[in-house]
Amino acid sequence: MSAIGPVPVVEAKGARIPLLGFGTWELRGRVCSRVVEQALRLGYRHVDTAEIYENEREVGEGLHASGIRRNDVFVTTKIWPAHFAPRELERAARDCLVRLRLSEVDLLLLHWPNLQIPLSETLGALGKVKRDGLARHIGVSNFTVALIEEALQATSEPLVCDQVECHPFLDQSKVIAACRKHGMAVIAYSPIAQGAVRDDEVLVRIGAAHKKTAAQVCLRFLVQQDIVVIPRTSKVERLSENAAIFDFTLSEQEMADISALARDERLVGWAFSGRMKWD
Ligand SMILES: NC(=O)c1ccc[n+]([C@@H]2O[C@H](COP(=O)([O-])OP(=O)(O)OC[C@H]3O[C@@H](n4cnc5c(N)ncnc54)[C@H](OP(=O)(O)O)[C@@H]3O)[C@@H](O)[C@H]2O)c1
Repeated sequence: MSAIGPVPVVEAKGARIPLLGFGTWELRGRVCSRVVEQALRLGYRHVDTAEIYENEREVGEGLHASGIRRNDVFVTTKIWPAHFAPRELERAARDCLVRLRLSEVDLLLLHWPNLQIPLSETLGALGKVKRDGLARHIGVSNFTVALIEEALQATSEPLVCDQVECHPFLDQSKVIAACRKHGMAVIAYSPIAQGAVRDDEVLVRIGAAHKKTAAQVCLRFLVQQDIVVIPRTSKVERLSENAAIFDFTLSEQEMADISALARDERLVGWAFSGRMKWD
């Protein structure tokens, strides 16, 4: 029995995605492998990495050191847009698996859209990688509503999620609605706004009523809407804090108060993201 108890899952097009995952962006070296190992020992069952994070080797080390059976952990990685030409994509996916020391990942995502390469070609290659057994499920990340629609037209393979920036300071209702309409899971990245939620007065006040921290209230707000969260920490002592979000419920009023915090604060941008129309 793990310290944090069983983590609920979200089902999307045959994928069973643990609602709580562990984010690893910017975690490197020994800190990365150690904190991934500790997260899994504690009961996290979902780890998120990407080829661009340059830490898949360390994530793999943490996974193997944890002793968790392969089928008990959900591993996601992402292909960087520079590798979206079909042959490149397949090679990149194989390289990810070598670094992770896995024969397949649970979820393979297109990390950001690449407007230079036809989406149908990239999705064709992603589907082939899945059919070849390199990934159990495939999906997208940082896709706008329009790109989700385009992607679904371009492939017959199920796309199980859109992983997008999602926290109380950013209104993502349109992309969330599009995912729901198409049976896709929403995976929230930067779910605690990279730590900024800690000082928010509303979250702190609601937390005090539940004996929870602002970060826990924020994560609860998301999982209570069946949005998967993948908070990152480099500190082992914060792993339990970020996981203790399934033993309390926010009231409708509290959910509404948190929703009212939305102010279009986008924290993560990449080259062309500023040129993307998000709704
Ligand atoms: N698909 C994409 O394009 C994309 C983009 C960004 C991120 N992601 C994924 O999403 C994951 C999470 O997003 P993120 O890393 O941007 O940010 P995040 O998880 O929202 O926040 C991480 C930051 O918050 C701090 N923190 C962690 N727990 C805390 C707590 N309980 N109270 C206060 N501060 C806390 C961490 O510092 P300490 O280390 O000091 O604890 C770290 O600085 C990433 O790691 C990555 O796996 C995906």
